[in-house]
Amino acid sequence: SENRNTQLYKGHVEAAVFYHRVFTLTDEGKPGREYAANREFTKDQIDQFQIGFAPIGWENLSTFLQKKGFNPKDLVEAGLLAEREQSDGVYDRFRSRLMFPIWDAQGKVVGFSGRLVGEGKPKYLNSPETPIFQKNKLLYGLHLARAQIRKSNVAVLFEGAADVVAAWGAGVTNGVATLGTALTPEHAKILRRNAETVLICYDSDQAGQSAAFRSASVLEQAGCIVSIANMPVDLDPDDYIKRYGAEQFQTDVIGNGQTVMAFKMKYLRQEKNLQDEGERMVYIEEVLQELAKLPRAIERDHYLRQIADEFSLSLDVLKQEQYRMYKESK
Ligand code: UTP
Ligand code: MN
Ligand code: MN
Ligand code: MN
Ligand code: MN
Repeated sequence: SENRNTQLYKGHVEAAVFYHRVFTLTDEGKPGREYAANREFTKDQIDQFQIGFAPIGWENLSTFLQKKGFNPKDLVEAGLLAEREQSDGVYDRFRSRLMFPIWDAQGKVVGFSGRLVGEGKPKYLNSPETPIFQKNKLLYGLHLARAQIRKSNVAVLFEGAADVVAAWGAGVTNGVATLGTALTPEHAKILRRNAETVLICYDSDQAGQSAAFRSASVLEQAGCIVSIANMPVDLDPDDYIKRYGAEQFQTDVIGNGQTVMAFKMKYLRQEKNLQDEGERMVYIEEVLQELAKLPRAIERDHYLRQIADEFSLSLDVLKQEQYRMYKESK
């Protein structure tokens, strides 16, 4: 109900203040501060994103909020506390984690993403689905990035909160992220309402590349123009910025998006030796298969010419072959 949701919102506001204060002001916050310093988060980033720390121990937030008069049942429903399994009582869901508050589009805190400080699993723990936190339509950072997304007409899509925060520190302030969920048509619709173009900037590992293709297709179906950023193998945006700096991130990554097809071609060739005739033929065949899926003839033609040039093949032969595949795919 309306009333119940009010309690969920209030609990989140108080929890965000609690975690941020623990982080900035207390002895218990020291592991969080050390971890953040290690990741090179600046004071600006910590303030802007209200980064906090959930201290070690089972009942820190629980005690704090119950003293303030919150009902433990509401806090469990909010996903801030969990119910004990063996006995009565509740405990803090987030412990020993660097805390990223998650805001809804109106800027209300509706959940958290917690990065474990130290060893263990899971590395990231997010709030569960609640009446005020629906992951399939929530984009982390949107309320902060919206003005810049509209102004630039581009939204940069990252995998996680840490990437958004790192990019913001590097001057890229039109970034958002989904949190541990695949991009949904709802996410895509929201992005399309705010910008014409979406630049996907996922991790460059295998998982990130496959996810980029899936997200690209969801975004294109929502009417977005999609490009994909180029990241050196096995880095993510956060690692990249740390290693190469803000300026290079802006020019070589954000300023150097590729079309989905160009990215696919790069992906298809990365494991092949194109000097080998057999592997080269497989590559060309795979590219033609992908091209057959492109709806626009102009785009197909562009890449066919590129292949013809690169491998000294007859454009006519490629066109015939491609046309055959195009018909078969119908
Ligand atoms: P990654 O696995 O790429 O995180 O997950 P990472 O970049 O290595 O993490 P750091 O840099 O060491 O902190 C990408 C995103 O997927 C979500 C998080 O939002 C994360 O930012 N994720 C990942 C989860 O929700 N749960 C997990 O256990 C792992
Ligand atoms: Mn990853
Ligand atoms: Mn990553
Ligand atoms: Mn990592
Ligand atoms: Mn990372």
